[in-house]
Amino acid sequence: MDLGFYAGQVVVVTGAGAGIGREMAVRLGRAGAKTVLVDIQEEKLGEVAAEIRNAGGQALAMVADAAEQERMNEVAGETLREFGGADVLINNAGRLFYGGVAESEMADFDAVMRANFGAAVASTKAFLPHIVKSERGRIANLSSAYGLIGLGGAAPYTAAKFAVRGFTESLRSELRDRPNVAVSCVYPGGVKTGIAWSALAAAGVDAQRAAERFDRQVARTQPGRAAEVILNGVAQGRARVLIGADAILADTVARVAGGRYEGLIRLVIRG
Ligand SMILES: NC(=O)c1ccc[n+]([C@@H]2O[C@H](COP(=O)([O-])OP(=O)(O)OC[C@H]3O[C@@H](n4cnc5c(N)ncnc54)[C@H](O)[C@@H]3O)[C@@H](O)[C@H]2O)c1
Repeated sequence: MDLGFYAGQVVVVTGAGAGIGREMAVRLGRAGAKTVLVDIQEEKLGEVAAEIRNAGGQALAMVADAAEQERMNEVAGETLREFGGADVLINNAGRLFYGGVAESEMADFDAVMRANFGAAVASTKAFLPHIVKSERGRIANLSSAYGLIGLGGAAPYTAAKFAVRGFTESLRSELRDRPNVAVSCVYPGGVKTGIAWSALAAAGVDAQRAAERFDRQVARTQPGRAAEVILNGVAQGRARVLIGADAILADTVARVAGGRYEGLIRLVIRG
């Protein structure tokens, strides 16, 4: 895969300490990007930064909650001091949640919305004034196959990922007069990361059982593969980036079947 687009570019990845974010960060470092790595987990963040530097790459690592506006403004300021600008922002930080409408409290909806939608909004607002000055600016937000369809049992997470999608499409529309900036929305299907094990859950939901089921039945794509599809799609400035046959199926069925997609999806899953 040719990631030449990123050579010399200042690329910010939130949630870079683990999973898909980590895989993207390492590849970006190898491709010659000036990486800015953000995560709430200090130790994991340090490991990724060290891996990039040991391979001869550049990394600025900052412990930050991507949903905290003031902290992300500081991260943007430090990025400018260190690298002189920002070209690409990949809003990857997010948190899975198990629980449907009935068992999820309002506080659950708030927390999941903040962890997924809030993280994309605060980080975008911190970096947008700088990215619009780039000759080849990119902003990519991680939604999910759950941002394409709603299947029940995960209403807060699904609502948050649909919100990421709406936010991304609105931002793309607002930037239509700026051909130097492309905005991508990324829809992964199941990816084999630790996301199922660090997920939040509504009271009474068996999170361990849900995580085991996720690993066994849902997670099909390797995180390195997901990282490559995202980085390629973002470099090409694609509006939508689908990852895995499951995401492609969700997208297709939602379009073809319209309001009747749920029955069709369940038929395919059972078959
Ligand atoms: N793994 C999947 O199957 C899958 C499917 C669809 C969408 N996604 C989305 O892809 C993104 C990455 O998922 P992943 O599977 O790599 O997850 P992961 O749990 O493996 O890694 C996420 C990383 O983000 C960090 N993080 C979480 N909240 C943060 C915050 N507020 N600020 C800074 N860092 C934060 C975590 O510490 C962790 O290092 C998420 O937005 C997720 O919702 C994942």
